[in-house]
Amino acid sequence: MADEQRPGFLFVTCQIGAEQALKQELAARWPQFRLAYSRPGFLTCKLPPEHRLRADFDLGAVFARARAFSLGKVAGSDPEELAQAVWGLYTGPLPRRLHVWQRHTQGLGEEGAAAPVSEAAVEAAERIRRHCPYAEKLAADADDPRQPARPGEWVLDCVLVEPEEWWVGFHQARSVPSLWPGGVMPLQLPADAVSRAWLKMEEAVRWSRLPLAAGARWAEIGSAPGGATQALLARGMMVLGIDPAEMHPAVLAHPGFTHLRKRVGQVRRREFRKIRWLAADMNVAPQYTLDAVESIVTHPEVHIRGMLLTLKLIQWELAAKVPEYLERVRGWGYNVVRARQLFHNGREVCLAALQKPFLRKPLRIGKNLD
Ligand SMILES: C[S@@+](CC[C@H](N)C(=O)[O-])C[C@H]1O[C@@H](n2cnc3c(N)ncnc32)[C@H](O)[C@@H]1O
Repeated sequence: MADEQRPGFLFVTCQIGAEQALKQELAARWPQFRLAYSRPGFLTCKLPPEHRLRADFDLGAVFARARAFSLGKVAGSDPEELAQAVWGLYTGPLPRRLHVWQRHTQGLGEEGAAAPVSEAAVEAAERIRRHCPYAEKLAADADDPRQPARPGEWVLDCVLVEPEEWWVGFHQARSVPSLWPGGVMPLQLPADAVSRAWLKMEEAVRWSRLPLAAGARWAEIGSAPGGATQALLARGMMVLGIDPAEMHPAVLAHPGFTHLRKRVGQVRRREFRKIRWLAADMNVAPQYTLDAVESIVTHPEVHIRGMLLTLKLIQWELAAKVPEYLERVRGWGYNVVRARQLFHNGREVCLAALQKPFLRKPLRIGKNLD
């Protein structure tokens, strides 16, 4: 990208409530960035002059949902004029796709957060597409939020921060979240899902890109009532569910599922001998989850290749400890370890870990292998 196309600002979106955690992360990872304008769920940073950041650079922020180089905002009450003004402001590379979404304005309710691609966002995207001065360069379905960008494609981003205030920017698609408007893949809870944890597991599997094949054996600690298990079973996985609580009968009846109705601490280590993948989603503090997982994966007869762990941030202050949690998991011999606050996470993060190549033994060398 030519220098004149390197804008001086970045905008970043996050879950409502996660702003402080995100600011802390950015301050630690990018001390040269200066926080500028911010609203709940949306913040902008002034980048250092002469920065050489690529448009697909890794922000490395667990609490960032989406980010783009920011070109500023357009404001007004007529959406047609706003859509036109978006192109007046746009100086990024010619985009193939349009990512238009709405800033979150509410925290998580019973039903989770409202999808960022709201009706208003769909209408705005359609208007922006119509006003595009070089429409032939856009993908035919450029404004369809169900179609992901392809890695490498340029994307125009437009966040409806307020109905009459749209922020415009761009990014280059690369990571899984960056393929979708607002970093949120469209998932529909199946009618037969027994809990909303189905969404959390499905998003975790897709985001993490763990190399899973049908028939893979999972243990899931904290499996009841079983939505997450259903997501794994639907992919042809075998699941050993560990939970003192009752599993839903529909999950119990599945031939690929076995229930150990116990607390994880009561399960003998040999139960894990054939297990290669581990999921944990207990309603306990991260320290407890990590202690329980450590005692399993570091056992000499257990060979866990990869994990998806939900770490509950019982208090927001625990957000500052996420880097320590990642480091601890690396210390067990996992060399690809990442975390993200998924769209379907509550006040929690998803940690994905993989041993690559699979050495069948945790190394326990106590330091980062990256
Ligand atoms: C958030 S729910 C799990 C939701 C589940 N993954 C689903 O898909 O429906 C948390 C679960 O953790 C279980 N749990 C808490 N402490 C546990 C422990 N020490 N061992 C095993 N399960 C535990 C609880 O019984 C509860 O069912």
